[in-house]
Amino acid sequence: MHKVIYDTDPGVDDAMALLFLHRHPEIDLIGITTVFGNASVETTTRNALFLKREWNIPAPVAKGASVTIDPSRAEREWPAMVHGENGLGDIEVPKTIDLPLDPRPAHRFIIDTVRANPGEIRLVAVGRMTNLARALKEDPEIASLVKDVVIMGGNFYVPGNVSPVAEANIHGDPEAADIVMTAPWKVVVIGLDVTSITTMSRSYLGEMAARGDGAVKLLDALSQSYIDFYRHAVEDGMMVHDSCASVYVVAPELFTTITGAVRVVCGGIADGQTVVKPDNRRFPPDDWDGLPSQIVATGIESEKVLELIRETLLTI
Ligand code: BDR
Ligand code: CA
Repeated sequence: MHKVIYDTDPGVDDAMALLFLHRHPEIDLIGITTVFGNASVETTTRNALFLKREWNIPAPVAKGASVTIDPSRAEREWPAMVHGENGLGDIEVPKTIDLPLDPRPAHRFIIDTVRANPGEIRLVAVGRMTNLARALKEDPEIASLVKDVVIMGGNFYVPGNVSPVAEANIHGDPEAADIVMTAPWKVVVIGLDVTSITTMSRSYLGEMAARGDGAVKLLDALSQSYIDFYRHAVEDGMMVHDSCASVYVVAPELFTTITGAVRVVCGGIADGQTVVKPDNRRFPPDDWDGLPSQIVATGIESEKVLELIRETLLTI
């Protein structure tokens, strides 16, 4: 069993990835931690509790960061036009959900859970990397106790989606992302290079919903305005960014990867750009020496990824 903590900012595509993690038979989802991003942390936490309740997910929810790791960084706006004002495609969601939160802040929950399960935890992080960076700052030793960190974020050989060079999760807190990428743990970076070519059509999702239970029908309903938003880039469908990272946990063979040190540009016109120095290249004098080698996805078998999502979501 893969023991997963899901760090997320639900978020429409976050919701699909959550249902995947909950339903996959080889995944034990042991915690959900929330972060600001697709909406404020109040909203993303409420959304996580809502989905937990609707989908009967036993994992506890711990609320995380509301702002960037560097408090002097100017706040960026929530992308309401992407995920809706309420972060879940503006379907009806109660203002409050009558379920308890874990009493600890997200980064503490991560530290405690990693320490209680040395070598076993897989962190799947699909929002700003702020909670992970905080956990590392407070307890740097967790880097050697985590099995791996699979993130949705960044872009290497394709353009960004919030600036010509930056992807939303990294651009939303570049300093945090740089801390995460350069820490001595194994990071797998699932970025736009692979997620932007993994698109699920409205009809594919609709057929799943027709065959599936109430959970899949809810997912279909909350995804409709997100699909409308993607009209500029996808023909009647949506990029399933966060699900790609979740799929990697159980099916890494569906991805082509390279290895190398990864850094994040912090500031200037390339703010939030991710850069990889492949292990087989040297650039003397080499400032990259000594940085950990991470795994960067450069290719994906999109059809098989979509099939695995469908098969898993239809498993009850
Ligand atoms: C990422 O940004 C968010 O909008 C999505 O949930 C995903 O995690 C894609 O750039
Ligand atoms: Ca997300």
